[in-house]
Amino acid sequence: MPLTVLSRRLRALALAVGLGLGLGLAALPADAQSVNPTALSVQEQQLLQTLQKVEGRVSIPDAKSGVLIQPEGQAWRDFHEKTLPQVGTWGLLGTLGIVLLFWVVRGRIRIEAGPSTRTITRFNGFERFVHWLTASSFIVLALSGLNVTFGKHLLLPLIGPHPFHIVSELAKLAHNYLSFPFTLGVVLMLLIWIKDNIPTGVDVVWFLKGGGILGKGHPAAGRFNGGQKLIFWAVVLGGGAIAATGYLLMFPFYVTDIAGMQTAQMVHGLLAVAVAAVIIGHIYIGSVGMEGAFDAMGSGEVDLNWAKEHHSLWVEDATRKNPGIVHNPGRMAPAE
Ligand code: HEM
Repeated sequence: MPLTVLSRRLRALALAVGLGLGLGLAALPADAQSVNPTALSVQEQQLLQTLQKVEGRVSIPDAKSGVLIQPEGQAWRDFHEKTLPQVGTWGLLGTLGIVLLFWVVRGRIRIEAGPSTRTITRFNGFERFVHWLTASSFIVLALSGLNVTFGKHLLLPLIGPHPFHIVSELAKLAHNYLSFPFTLGVVLMLLIWIKDNIPTGVDVVWFLKGGGILGKGHPAAGRFNGGQKLIFWAVVLGGGAIAATGYLLMFPFYVTDIAGMQTAQMVHGLLAVAVAAVIIGHIYIGSVGMEGAFDAMGSGEVDLNWAKEHHSLWVEDATRKNPGIVHNPGRMAPAE
């Protein structure tokens, strides 16, 4: 066992013993009282096993500070130091690997009919603002969150303690404050896009046809296809739960006790890894992975052939309701 860990544990042990005595050992189980904590032969592990919970009374208003040892704390530390880093490493590197493999096997998805001279308005300015508000805050939240879990293993050895201290301080501030625009973005996304993201039978067929990846041709889709609906709900439900558990951690003990805080932290970390993995796939397909896709969130105008191939039902519906949605930027305006 490294010396620092040993000395930390010994200090915790000494404190436990001291406070345990101070608290009058009132809350100890009967067999715990038969242990002489000052005896040299008492092992830390033996003591911790015996003292399942050390809890007593304190005279300050904060009653929860009377809890000195609770076994869940050790389970939580294990999760924080081992399980979450492992899940994060496998989840995120695994997703990057799958995306890379997809790119190697499938290549960039092209507009099959070739680019058209006409465009169709896919997202208006407000929709794009909401998307980029959510996206930019999520990306900084994800990177600053990753620093909490991986920073001391990856970044600290690379840049040294002082720069790491500054980066981590700024990352923590960003993580706290950007939670607000992210939450606002998620709520606005829900409001503006929920009507287009209700699952239908069309999505089932879309999935059965593998979203067009398996076999020939493009399965029909409305404004959002089945895969995009999954992303939408992952962002709204997953992102919403990440935000809610994040606020529990940001304002400790207002709503929940120590066990609730530990659960909130675990849910926050695991969901963050899951949503980040989904978003890695989304960013790939929305940028380099598919010809013509980025324009939807860039200028808001997409190639008409792209739209017909990927969102055929939406094009029919939208052009029927508003023929002016289709533009012809390739053609010169006729002279007066
Ligand atoms: C650089 C990063 C990103 C790029 C390039 C990007 C690109 C895009 C594009 C092109 C679309 C429209 C797709 C279409 O027209 O059908 C879109 C939609 C969307 N984006 Fe992003 N996005 C990014 C980051 C994010 C992030 C971080 C989130 C959420 C945390 C997000 C959430 C969504 C959602 C919910 C939609 C609508 C559903 C969908 O099309 O999947 N995006 N994005």
